[in-house]
Amino acid sequence: MTEREHGFSRRTRLIRPSGIRQLFDLSQSMGDVISLGIGEPDFDTPLHIREAAKEALDAGYTRYTPNNGFPDLRDALAAKVARVNGLDYTPQEVLVSDGGCTGALLLALLTLVDPGDEVILGDPGFVVYEAATRIVGATPVAVPVWEMNDFRLIPADVARAVTSKTKLIILNSPANPTGGVQRREDLAGIAEVATQHDLFVVSDEVYEMMVYEGVRHQSIAAFDGMRDRTVTVNSFSKTYAMTGWRVGYAVGARSIIDQMVTLQQFTMVHAPAVSQRAALAALTGPQDSIERMVAVFDDRRRFLVPRLNEIEGFRCSTPTGAFYVFPSVAELGMTSEAFAQFLLQEGRVAVVPGSAFGVGGEGYLRLSYAQPLVKLEAACNRIERAVAKLR
Ligand SMILES: Cc1ncc(COP(=O)(O)O)c(C=O)c1O
Repeated sequence: MTEREHGFSRRTRLIRPSGIRQLFDLSQSMGDVISLGIGEPDFDTPLHIREAAKEALDAGYTRYTPNNGFPDLRDALAAKVARVNGLDYTPQEVLVSDGGCTGALLLALLTLVDPGDEVILGDPGFVVYEAATRIVGATPVAVPVWEMNDFRLIPADVARAVTSKTKLIILNSPANPTGGVQRREDLAGIAEVATQHDLFVVSDEVYEMMVYEGVRHQSIAAFDGMRDRTVTVNSFSKTYAMTGWRVGYAVGARSIIDQMVTLQQFTMVHAPAVSQRAALAALTGPQDSIERMVAVFDDRRRFLVPRLNEIEGFRCSTPTGAFYVFPSVAELGMTSEAFAQFLLQEGRVAVVPGSAFGVGGEGYLRLSYAQPLVKLEAACNRIERAVAKLR
């Protein structure tokens, strides 16, 4: 413990900066780096959404809003989850969250989990899950997801991790950092585990639109017995390229959502008024920008996977979701952290070491293809040249 940390809460001392941020900061301070490190669409928020936000400001949407969000936005969200996800929730069972999906996730954990409870999460998995679990005082229980299973979370593995302390499972499909997508039978199996052991599920579906090769996203809340034990969290960040607007949502049973609203009231209060108006325009306006963006991601994915497989020491399976590839570089004989550092120094390419996402990520790298194709091509050439220096 450093001098400065003396007196900090125990839960605060357990939280360390994310490995993603550290590498990003370092790469920012260097010249001529191609960053495949950060997970946000490289597209602008569609024009009609930005226009709606400007109009909202002029129309006076600069004040407090209801804690659970504007009623017309919650109506539109209830309609969206019915149409897109096959979920039957009333507008009172919708929370518009401040802080995007991340805010909704934290409120869900605060509502459902006590200190000492265990929370099951996939490893490697999105960095926020472990940190948020620790922030609420609970214990993360990592269940490995394997490359040979397309990085899906397998129900039998989840079942084996359940103890008398298990309270909740965090599910993320399509997944960050692997691009793995849960199949119908995986979700059915996990739903069975949850019902059998009376567990809650928080399902993070922010990449729901980013699926390829005819794969369909499915929501676990639509499975038998899951409606009232699942909180589905989602956001506008990825689907509408709105990462900076910090608006997300959660749907779930009325009692859970009511408690989450109360917690939001006493913490973040509500999502920004102007962001909520922009979110409404996103939901009710033309949707063609999503299809265009996903088609571009798909082109890049089709380029990147075979190209990385041409590089000695790289083995890259084909993900069917999100906008990441997760190649193994174990054959190169370095830790993923050491290799990512080497790639940054020698190749001027920033990637995230798989170990930043859990011990199961060791030996892998996360590369985001939310970058133009020319940059991806140049990055692969640089990686190839850097790897050649290792020989
Ligand atoms: C799986 C996953 N969930 C949530 C988020 C964060 O979403 P938001 O911007 O809505 O907080 C990310 C961002 O990278 C993510 O990868």
